[in-house]
Amino acid sequence: MEIHKYEKIWLAGALLLIVGFIATVSYGAVGAGIEMIDNEGGQVDPKALDQHPKFSEPGTYKTGPNQYDVYVVAQQFAYLPGTSDPIRVPANSEVTFHVTSRDVIHGYEIVGTNANTMAIPGQVSQMTVKFDEAKEYGLLCNEYCGAAHHAMEGKIVVVP
Ligand code: CUA
Repeated sequence: MEIHKYEKIWLAGALLLIVGFIATVSYGAVGAGIEMIDNEGGQVDPKALDQHPKFSEPGTYKTGPNQYDVYVVAQQFAYLPGTSDPIRVPANSEVTFHVTSRDVIHGYEIVGTNANTMAIPGQVSQMTVKFDEAKEYGLLCNEYCGAAHHAMEGKIVVVP
């Protein structure tokens, strides 16, 4: 009876570890001070981004006390915003990125973290990330998108 009970405890422990590992891989933060907590999306007309209420003015929109929406248009070979003007968000904020593409498929990866999505024409990739500390993050395109793919990058500045 005693042994049976210990077996159950060990089994439960092992299961918990497995679930924990999967959760870490799926949702956990690989980079310090950042956590990806959501990843979904919607649709948009890639030829009418200029008429879209947000993608016509891509950038950072405050939606709550510590919450922001960032609308990003990816195109050969830049992010708007991100490449020529870094995205700026405060520390301890929850940021939902809405990413789409004007032309071909691009990647959208926050370097050194597991926050990573695709920029697909016609679709909005949505991912929510929690930024804990003031830090700079690189952005890069990890989908081959043409001649200057390797140079397609950007920056997120988490300000104190
Ligand atoms: Cu954009 Cu590779």
